[in-house]
Amino acid sequence: MTKLGILLSGRGSNFLAIAESIRLGHIDAEIALVVSNREDAPGITAAQALGLPTLVLPSQGRKRQEHDEAVVDALRRAGAEWIVLAGYMRLLSPWFVHQFAGRILNIHPSLLPAFPGLDAQKQAFDYGVQFSGCTVHFVDEHLDHGAIILQKSVPVLPTDDEHTLADRILVLEHIAYSEALALVLSGKYRVEGRRVLPL
Ligand code: GAR
Repeated sequence: MTKLGILLSGRGSNFLAIAESIRLGHIDAEIALVVSNREDAPGITAAQALGLPTLVLPSQGRKRQEHDEAVVDALRRAGAEWIVLAGYMRLLSPWFVHQFAGRILNIHPSLLPAFPGLDAQKQAFDYGVQFSGCTVHFVDEHLDHGAIILQKSVPVLPTDDEHTLADRILVLEHIAYSEALALVLSGKYRVEGRRVLPL
């Protein structure tokens, strides 16, 4: 069974949705390690409650690659084959990306390439778009940039504020991430340039 390494920095709701999909048999994988770069991440407490192996490696004040080397070392020791960024709010070094080339996934709460970076839902709301959503993509050296595996869209309603919009996007994130993971772990896809196509 494919071993996953999960990286998170906060709440961990995407991680929990993936853990539930695994429990239900919708994703054929096991979680080998959950790593947080923040000590106070609720997602780490949730992972511990599920009895999963966890590790906190604070990144604040550390050089990017130096921190990444410690993370990759832990992931390798745990046997992780695929890396799942689940609200990991730290850019990976090119070195890290190279270690797991083509096997790192991220989810972002906008329809990329619109609104990369922080507070994507607020960015979209403030811009006045009528549709937003979420994107699951492969990770490359650039922020929120790699080839898109799956996107889901939601309308922005007249009654929305940035919080209700973010809540509606999050519901879709939880569905999209498991779908995208199931697809890539099945191996039934090919990448042509920036396009991820089903086999
Ligand atoms: C999610 O909305 C995720 O898309 C976003 O952080 C949130 C984490 O929530 N990620 C990014 O913005 C990455 N650029 P969670 O901890 O509850 O999964």
